[in-house]
Amino acid sequence: MAIPQHTIDQILDRTDIVDVIGQFVKLKKTGRTYSGCCPFHQEKSPSFHVYRDKQYFHCFGCQANGNAIRFLMDIGSRNFIEVMKDLSSQTGIELPKDNTDSNKLKYKRESKPKPVEKKPAASTQEPLVQQPSNSDTPAVFEHDPFAEFQSADEAFYGNDPFAHFDQIADGFEDVPQDGNLYDLLENVAQFYEQQLPLSQIGQAYFKQRGLSAETIAYWRLGYAPEDWQHLEKAFPQDIEGLKLLGLIRTSDSGRDFDLLRERVIFPIRDNKGRVVGFGGRALNDEIKPKYINSPDSEVFHKNQLLYGLYEGRKQKAQDWLMVEGYMDVIALQQYGIHGAVATLGTASNTDHLNILFKQNNRITIAFDGDAAGQKAARRTLEIALPLLNDGRELKFFVLPNDHDPDSLIRREGIENFRRLLDQSPLMSDFIFALLTQNQNIATPEGKSQVMGELKNLTELLPKHGSFRYLLQQFFREKLGFNRKWQPQVNNDASLSFSTKIDAEEYVIAILINHPYLYIHFEPLRALVSQDLLLFHILNIFNVIFDELPDDPELSTYYVLGACAAHHHELQHILEHANISDYTSSPEQADKLAADFSTKLQYAFLEQKIKTNKFSSLAEMRNLKQRIAEIAKKRSLTLLED
Ligand code: UTP
Ligand code: MN
Repeated sequence: MAIPQHTIDQILDRTDIVDVIGQFVKLKKTGRTYSGCCPFHQEKSPSFHVYRDKQYFHCFGCQANGNAIRFLMDIGSRNFIEVMKDLSSQTGIELPKDNTDSNKLKYKRESKPKPVEKKPAASTQEPLVQQPSNSDTPAVFEHDPFAEFQSADEAFYGNDPFAHFDQIADGFEDVPQDGNLYDLLENVAQFYEQQLPLSQIGQAYFKQRGLSAETIAYWRLGYAPEDWQHLEKAFPQDIEGLKLLGLIRTSDSGRDFDLLRERVIFPIRDNKGRVVGFGGRALNDEIKPKYINSPDSEVFHKNQLLYGLYEGRKQKAQDWLMVEGYMDVIALQQYGIHGAVATLGTASNTDHLNILFKQNNRITIAFDGDAAGQKAARRTLEIALPLLNDGRELKFFVLPNDHDPDSLIRREGIENFRRLLDQSPLMSDFIFALLTQNQNIATPEGKSQVMGELKNLTELLPKHGSFRYLLQQFFREKLGFNRKWQPQVNNDASLSFSTKIDAEEYVIAILINHPYLYIHFEPLRALVSQDLLLFHILNIFNVIFDELPDDPELSTYYVLGACAAHHHELQHILEHANISDYTSSPEQADKLAADFSTKLQYAFLEQKIKTNKFSSLAEMRNLKQRIAEIAKKRSLTLLED
């Protein structure tokens, strides 16, 4: 059973690690952490710590660490699924039924249809009104809403377009058997694909939209004929399945008809490349609705799918761009921009963004430049903010008025388009532009208005993350709030370490100036040698962090107050450390701090292993495991750069 990440997250959200571990270990609250004696190794003084805000445990002694699931697995020697089943019943959040459960994919195939139902093309010219299938209910067809559509479109097909599919059907036994929805979807996709070369108007439509033959084949684009019952005729044994998929609907009068007619077809594939649904576009803009998408079904969940994701992953896309429509995704791919994805006619939601953030920590969202686009951008921003942890980064590609990515890339060409895309503002700049556009920020009133609105947004960011604070600080600087107090740092050198101080002192300087970055350096507490000043400073942060004031300057005062005992050493460090670039953009500051901390953790761990400073084999194993994890994380960040 594969449990989707969003279910795991939901279950973890409802589980408190302090409660979970509290059932096995006697915990005592000390500052930011709960501590007790480690259940994974023998010890007398407590070095086992549990962090409620991060929902994480860490033993300073044996390096055991992880979340509530890891703890339960290790303490009870149980596997992942066993633990998840337990947590599921405790939290009331259901695990998905095994999605390989093939019963859900099954439908009853009808036995081989009687010849009379296999109408030759000519017979459909007879208006269906005159051939009610059930003599008890002739009246319902008197005002057949579809009669007018039963046009003589057979000329259009020439020979029976369904003959091929009838032959396929001929191969089956004359007994009812089970069909599989995925197989049916694949057959329908092939049917639509095969209709396209037979349709002048379908082909003309794609031609007019500038799509090449390769593009059409790559995306498996197709055409749904205008006949109201073309699927019924092509797949007479699969009516039940087609209804389950929503591709055949039933009118009030009890007549079956096809959902998609006289439309070009976009098959939608899931992340394994299986066709799971269809979008159909009208051949001109007068026809409403412009797009019809097949409804959600057992295999089609629009909220968890992105059009173009499978294709982009196959192309090994690095940069992901969220656009609005199918045609945008396709046009960009034709021009060589892979990794564009679109939602399936629904607004983007948390799941969509999480899917994209799994492809890359940095994603870009495209928006129209008009008022509606801005509104959508703001809404997406509000959905995205709570997800922005662990170095995730969001950029906003604002399109010129009256353009979507499809039209823009056609006008600009690939190179200009790429340049515009690369210039997309970072989230912090975007938010600044968004919040200040209707304010006079020269006035104190305007400024405080902006700061007030900013607070509403930053409150959506993950609790205790450093980004809240950095964003505020960034705004204050952009708005020209006077700093009452400037830490003594020189502003000339670059980001590289100053030669005058070492790495530990550099961390201290960062922490004093940007206390909220502690969140990134917290793991060092377990690793730095206890005789270092950094160890004492980190421990002070552990105690005071939760009480830090939101205001950037006040928080630095607060820290200096708490570190009063070390003032003399701090003075020296602050004079020599150069941390000016940490304020250039919140995104950069966050990333630099995270990377720097990772590097130091790695260095400290290596040192520990080299000097054999571990007390047990288990500890050494854990250390090595952590080194491997960090090495992986580091190689990923190196790849990104
Ligand atoms: P747009 O109306 O912005 O159109 O719909 P578009 O993508 O530019 O389409 P073209 O270029 O005119 O063909 C964006 C997306 O919204 C959904 C579709 O998924 C579409 O791709 N949509 C739009 C619907 O589901 N129904 C509609 O009636 C319109
Ligand atoms: Mn468009």
